[in-house]
Amino acid sequence: MNAMAPSAAVELSEAEFAALTAIAAREAGLEIPSAKKSLVQSRVSRRWRHLKISNCKEYLAILDERPEEVRELISVLTTNVSSFYREAHHFEFLRQKVFPVVRDKLARGGRVRFWSAGCSSGQEPYSIAIECLKGLPGCAAQDLLILASDIDPKILARAEAGVYTASDLAALEAEDRRSYFTAVPGSEDSFQANDTLRKLVRFRELNLHAPWPMKQTFDVIFCRNVVIYFDDAHQAALWPRFRDQLEPDGCLILGHSERIQDIDNSGFRSAGVTIYQRS
Ligand SMILES: C[S@@+](CC[C@H](N)C(=O)[O-])C[C@H]1O[C@@H](n2cnc3c(N)ncnc32)[C@H](O)[C@@H]1O
Repeated sequence: MNAMAPSAAVELSEAEFAALTAIAAREAGLEIPSAKKSLVQSRVSRRWRHLKISNCKEYLAILDERPEEVRELISVLTTNVSSFYREAHHFEFLRQKVFPVVRDKLARGGRVRFWSAGCSSGQEPYSIAIECLKGLPGCAAQDLLILASDIDPKILARAEAGVYTASDLAALEAEDRRSYFTAVPGSEDSFQANDTLRKLVRFRELNLHAPWPMKQTFDVIFCRNVVIYFDDAHQAALWPRFRDQLEPDGCLILGHSERIQDIDNSGFRSAGVTIYQRS
């Protein structure tokens, strides 16, 4: 069998597309509509070239045999778009509503935990960390941590490295750029999150649909622009799990186009735009 020509795009039959999207649904809860077939074809093409294969039968056999290749498939099918201070009103909510409560908690020697679930390349947890350092003076020496998790180990490695371009950092105030990022030596346009910031964040690979190893509860869970890619059943299964993983008055923050559907029976009440407080 000839390997694919370098620029050729994979042509998937309907059955092949269904077989691949079924794996994405089973493994990651991803719902991939047929309108995204050409996107899937183009993303899978790169993987086929890497594996030097040219048909889906071979690919499905490899996926069957190698769990790490399934992770690669999930990695190429996930959408990783993110930005600093995305949906700024959520950070306003942190400052106005959450920080007054957790400030007292920290002062009493308590523990404060935030979770960025589906953190992608790290802009979300680092934005939370910047807000904490600015709004909770002394928190770096107190019991405050941010868990940043994602199913995709490649994007998680980028998040952990914390290296961004000047245009990535444009949403930050100039003083915050100077305080929390350092130019990477020898590079014109790379800036790395500094240790003050990175010390507040712990990165973990975690599939939201698998068991969660965390024992502790969280004051705020950010799960923004993640569940939009899940089918209804996978979304619905997450709400009670998030609720149980929150402090009694903790909050779950979703992305702008995400909602808890049956809120009256969810154990949450609305606390703002796409913000839900455990009730
Ligand atoms: C669009 S990004 C959102 C990033 C960030 N939360 C934000 O709003 O800017 C979606 C992230 O969800 C992750 N993801 C998708 N399915 C997941 C799953 N089943 N478990 C954990 N993370 C998942 C993807 O890898 C991707 O990095």
